[in-house]
Amino acid sequence: MSFHAIPLTGTKPEQYAQLLEQARALMHGERDRIANAANLSALLWHALPDLNWCGFYLYDGTELVVGPFQGLPACIRIPLDQGVCGAAARSRQTQVVRDVNAFEGHIACDSASQSECVVPLVAGDGTLLGVLDLDSPRLARFDEDDARGLEAIGRAWVEAVQ
Ligand code: SME
Repeated sequence: MSFHAIPLTGTKPEQYAQLLEQARALMHGERDRIANAANLSALLWHALPDLNWCGFYLYDGTELVVGPFQGLPACIRIPLDQGVCGAAARSRQTQVVRDVNAFEGHIACDSASQSECVVPLVAGDGTLLGVLDLDSPRLARFDEDDARGLEAIGRAWVEAVQ
């Protein structure tokens, strides 16, 4: 297989719709969590501008453990009561943090990170599977369009691995 990134066009929601199609195509017929997380991390990393980290933390029943990602080596384990990732996992709500320096308890794995978006990954029966975490070196890089678009991609991963 040779993957060709298709340039995203149109409004941000339109771009995310195209990215969702690419994500679905990449995961088609594959249920393996690590394989799908690895390919999604690579897809997002190459498709979205201004990222310095992009990847998965998977829930092991106790805490979040780093999974497939793109970017610099990162914190390995994140308790649910810590960090933006912990907040997303605990609340099961997407966290859009415009300025990580103003977020109490933010875990700085990469000092370049200025803003962050973390999407919880929750199975149909309510089981927490992990989080999808994107970091940017640009302040306020993520908005509601990113949150909704990344939630849809997170849901596609959850559906694929069920
Ligand atoms: N900043 C995250 C930790 C993970 S790294 O960004 C890769 C947090 O506060 O949860």
